[in-house]
Amino acid sequence: MIIEPNKDVVWHQYKVNKDQRSDQKRQQPCIIWFTGLSGSGKSTLANAVEQKLFELNHHTYLLDGDNVRHGLNKDLGFSDQDRQENIRRIGELAGLFVDSGLLVLAAFISPFRAERRLVRELVQPGEFIEVHVATPLSACEQRDPKGLYKKARAGEIRNFTGIDSDYEAPENAEIIIDTSTQSLEDSVSQIIGYLKAKQILK
Ligand code: PPS
Repeated sequence: MIIEPNKDVVWHQYKVNKDQRSDQKRQQPCIIWFTGLSGSGKSTLANAVEQKLFELNHHTYLLDGDNVRHGLNKDLGFSDQDRQENIRRIGELAGLFVDSGLLVLAAFISPFRAERRLVRELVQPGEFIEVHVATPLSACEQRDPKGLYKKARAGEIRNFTGIDSDYEAPENAEIIIDTSTQSLEDSVSQIIGYLKAKQILK
């Protein structure tokens, strides 16, 4: 069900804008969106990039699947519909953080192209940087850090991404990283290099 906003609710233009909020930190606010299978290395990579950005004195915030599902999205499961709503809410949240001047890192499986595109379209061109953590399913399953693939194969978990729920790989990701062949250090450098080249870090 789509609830239309009340027509008597009027949008307010704020007096301080995004550029002013971000200026002091010498950064162009954006969303760095990590998408990939469970166990692909999204959270590890996003954490390492945030740590590097922090060292470089940038102002960031990290949104991560497991954590957001403990609070804001604890009412959602893993049906296609719930995953769509999960990403829709996170997109809105990330958009507000961009408006607040931050470099937002978001690490979610986000399996469907349509929802990732919706988030991309919520912000200005160039403000959504899709990082496809393209670690193959076989490597993710071999790692199985939470034992979830084993449970999914045994039928103890249903709708598990890559097993009995779809993952639609990005077709035009800005950055592609396979953590089974690339070191964490190289992957972080690749992302930081991209951000510098695009003048997101100044
Ligand atoms: S999604 O698809 O974007 O809504 O998922 P996300 O919010 O990123 O949450 C993924 C984490 O939830 C755990 N988990 C599952 N993942 C996939 N499928 C099923 N059925 C499932 N059940 C629980 C899992 O720990 C995911 O964490 P990561 O870090 O991706 O391994």
